[in-house]
Parts: sequence; C-alpha cells; structure tokens
Amino acid sequence: MTSKELRQKYLDFFKEKEHAIIPSAPVVPENDPTVLFTTAGMHPLVPFLMGEKHPKGTRLANVQKCVRTVDIDEVGDNRHLTFFEMLGNWSLGDYFKREAIEWSFEFITSEKWLGLDPRRLYVTVFAGDEDAVRDEESIRIWQDQFAKVGIKAEAAGEDRMVNYEKRIVPLGKDDNWWGPAGETGPCGPCTEMFYDVSPELGDVNDTFANLVKDFRFMEIWNDVFMEFNKKADATFEKMAQQNVDTGMGLERTLVVMTGKDNVFDTEFFQPIIRKIEELSGKSYDDEESKVPMRIVSDHLKAATFMIADGVSPSNVERGYVLRRLIRRAVRQGKILGIEGNFTSKIAEVVILEYKDVYPELGRETKKIIEALNQEEVKFRETLEKGLKKIKEIIAESRSAERISGEKAFYLFSTYGFPLELTKEIAREHNVAVDEEEFHDEFKKHQELSRTVSAGMFKGGLADAGEMAAKLHTATHLLLAALRKVLGEHVSQKGSNITGERLRLDFSHEKKMTPEEISEVEKLVNVAIEKNIPVKCEEMTLDKAQKSGALGVFGEKYGDKVKVYDIESFSKEICGGPHATSTGELGKFKITKEEASSAGVRRIKAVLG
Ligand code: ALA
Repeated sequence: MTSKELRQKYLDFFKEKEHAIIPSAPVVPENDPTVLFTTAGMHPLVPFLMGEKHPKGTRLANVQKCVRTVDIDEVGDNRHLTFFEMLGNWSLGDYFKREAIEWSFEFITSEKWLGLDPRRLYVTVFAGDEDAVRDEESIRIWQDQFAKVGIKAEAAGEDRMVNYEKRIVPLGKDDNWWGPAGETGPCGPCTEMFYDVSPELGDVNDTFANLVKDFRFMEIWNDVFMEFNKKADATFEKMAQQNVDTGMGLERTLVVMTGKDNVFDTEFFQPIIRKIEELSGKSYDDEESKVPMRIVSDHLKAATFMIADGVSPSNVERGYVLRRLIRRAVRQGKILGIEGNFTSKIAEVVILEYKDVYPELGRETKKIIEALNQEEVKFRETLEKGLKKIKEIIAESRSAERISGEKAFYLFSTYGFPLELTKEIAREHNVAVDEEEFHDEFKKHQELSRTVSAGMFKGGLADAGEMAAKLHTATHLLLAALRKVLGEHVSQKGSNITGERLRLDFSHEKKMTPEEISEVEKLVNVAIEKNIPVKCEEMTLDKAQKSGALGVFGEKYGDKVKVYDIESFSKEICGGPHATSTGELGKFKITKEEASSAGVRRIKAVLG
C-alpha cells in the first residue's frame, strides 16, 4: 500500500459513513492562542467542539498536517516525528462511543479496508479516577468487536500484564485522557489502538509499558470521547455536546500496512534518506549514521512545511522552534560529514515528494529554499568556533558537572547555539546545563517571549478563547476601518491572535502616518461605543460574495460559509467565533505598525 492509497481509503471509508471531508488547515494555527503549531486535527475545530455550528455538518473527516515538538528528543527512535499527518474523523454532538469504536475496528480489520489481523490488535481504555469513571462502556464495545472475529477479549488487571486474552488495557489519565495543549478546553477519556509489529517474537506476554517501550506495540489510532470541558480551576464540567475526536497516524499506519517496524523505512522518508546518503557518502545501515540521518530528515521535513505556512527563523515563538530544528539538523549533518550547505537540497526532495498532496510546497519553493539557505549560512559562520568553544566550556565545567546559565547564554548570543543544542551537546558529555539561570540571563538581555521561557503557551483555551473572540471581532473592525481610511485596495494577508493581542497583515504600500493610525483607532472605537450586534448568517459562498462580504478564508469551508455582519461597518466570511456585540470589546489600541513584507504592512493591537 502507498501513502496516497492509505489517505484515500480513510477518506472513502468515512465518506461512506456520511462524513464531510474538510481540507487540512495550515500547521500554523490561524486564530488559536493556546498553541504554536497545529498538533492535531482537532485544533482548528475547537470552536465547533465547544458548540459552534460547523457549516459542513456534524460528521467531519480529513488528513491534517501536524507539527509536534514535545517529542523532539525522541526523534531518531522508530516512531516519533516532528512533522506527521493525522487521519481524523469527528462527531460534533452526533455519534459517540459505539459508532466510533465499531468504525475504527471495521476500518482496521475489514478486508475491504486495511485488512489487518485483529489478533495483533490491542487497545487501551480509561481506567477511571476522581474526575471520571472507568470506561466500562468502551470495554464492552471492544469486547463486542473482538467477539465478531471469534476473539474473547478481557480487560487486563492492575498489573497491566497483556496477553492474547487480556488485550484491553485500562490506564490512567497520563495515557488515556486527551485534551488540547492548553490547560483548559475540551477533553475526555480516550481509547488507543496498538498493533503488534513483531509477531515473530512469539506470544505476547509482558506488561503493557514494556511492550510499548520495546517497540513491539506501535500505537496507530486514538479515539477521544470529548465530553468534558476542563476549566481554569482544574475541574471538569460535562459539555452540552458529546463529541468524538479521532486521530490515526498516517506514517505509523503505513509502517503496519507495509510490514515494517519503523517510520523511517517507509516511503515517507526513504527518498530523503537516500539524498542524505548521497550528500554524506555514508550509509544509513551504519549504526552510527542511522540516528543522525533520521534526525536530519525529520527536522528538515518539518522545517520545510513550517516555512511554507509562513514561519521564518527567529528568536521567538514559532520562529525559534524553526531555528532550533534547522540548527540541530545542520549540526547532525556535520556529524555525518556533509560538507557545505545541504539543508535546501533536502528540502527539494521533501517538496518533490509532497507537493502533489500539499501544493503550497510547490508554490512556496523559492521561499523555502531561501529561508533555509539563509539560516544555514548564518549558523555555519559561527558553528565551527562555537563547537570549539563549547568543548572548552564543557572541559571547564566538568568538575561542576554543569554549564552555567551565563555560559549557555554566551553560546546562544555569540555563536547562535539554541539552548537545546547546547543541552544536547552537553548531554553527550554527561554534563548538564543550568536552564533556569539561562532563562534569567535571557530575560536580562531582552524581553522574553513566553515560548522561550516556558515552552508552549500555558494559558488555556476557554479563558483565552473569550479574549480571542473579542480580538477576532476587533480584527474585523480594524480591517473595515483600514479600508475606509486607506482605501479599498486594503485586503487581509494574514491574521493571528494570541491571548493578549491581535495581529493583522494587510496589503498597503506605504508606512501609515500617525494621523492615519489615529483615524483608524478612532473609527474602531466609535464602532465599539455604538455597541453594534455581531450577526452571523450561514449561506452559500456564492451568495456571500454577491452580498459584498469580504472573503479571507476563501474556499476553506467549502460552499456553505458563515458571514459575520457588523451592521454598516463590516461584513466578512469567517469561521468565527466572535463577540456577540462590539460593546464587549473595550478600548481598542494600535501598538505597532510596521512592514511585514513587500507591499504588506502589519498592525498589532490590543483591547484595554
Ligand atoms: N486529538 C487526538 C490525538 O491527537 C485524537 O491523539
């Protein structure tokens, strides 16, 4: 089976089950302040999981490109990836546990679909705790599925020993509860499906944890029953709507389908690895080259997709993550003995392999190649010296067994070594790095982005969600005001909202004058003072366009779209969510007006 066939099968299956197929959202979330990257197919759907109506109905499915950086240190083993594709299906208050599990089982085992061996399928369910009960219902539904193919399946006991009979494993929240990256928002118990990738090792008879650790079990699919909303006070409230959110790893499922035991042996990586072999003159079969080649291929693939979706290397937020990936890949390339710049050559292979499925890679080829070349050249200028310096520092720090934050910061500011790279090299020499001190040092030197100091955004969805809705409405008012003050040529080129501010990129050639900025602010504030209701109407795209609504999302939601109307002020096609009335917004203030790229200006603004 090929990746193309697998994507298609999945979508065809859920089409048969009356799901509407929606496109992949970008890896950079458009209006979600709680995450840096789209880490799962559910992210772009949060408003709809919380109760907003989706124009395509209550059953959705897609293939979503995802970026996850929490497992970055794991990359190099047989299954962790920074960029991956997720096959997902959703019920927005429609079907629940029975259908979700039945369909997962059918898709995996039926000869018509994947035709995998149900005897090699093992599942986990939520074991229950003080917040929610043990998921007996899912256990029963799984038993029914296995019974259909003559397998008597029992739940494993407290010891979590798994064997042919005990193939349903109850586990706690750490394993079987899924929520978004933010601390609040939709969440719930889940059931995960694992496939035995090494049946030649004989009967399964070990603890669940060992079977996963030893790579015998490969997780392929997760069905989440999202019926709770985690609130800021860490309590769980039942949502009005019972949802299903599933995610099946495309790469891992192809591993299983092709009888391999690791993602790097699949078509998703082989052409990239061949290229690295060619550039380095080393063989992937050499034990010491294997992990560096896996890291280079994973990181540069992720970087390619990130740049295509608008990220550029920098020292904050997404740009910092991208920088880390590229610089780590460059160092691993050096370990492999690659001479000269190579990152864009790898990107060319990624683009070639993926552009049919993700045409943005083809469209943005020039940008991708340039960004990688620039970043690599810049880092190489100091890499050699920096590597010498870090060796000295490690030697000096050996007695303390730790590199001070000050020195780690010096490596960062002078040689461009991201903290994580310093940590990685230090680890190779059994030396730690004082991270806390590094962050203090960083704060002293420049205003620190939340990302660098604390990893991902820590604020939760529900709280940030309310602010985000207001900022979202403010963005519509801002765009309308800009068109009034600067002219009708102004159109939206990009938008991004965090818990604190909005950012709008728009087409305009010149820097705005102070008078223009204050006129725009005034118009927005007048609209706020008038407390105009924000009305939402669903219609066909055609009708929306004829009604004069501005389109920013284009064809993203298919033919039925939502139009948000702020009477006599703004009318836009948009997915929402929004404030119900402009009066909720408070005082609007532009904090920055700057160039974004040629012919595009960028405004940042806050609500006070
Ligand atoms: N959102 C769920 C996951 O990513 C399906 O595992």
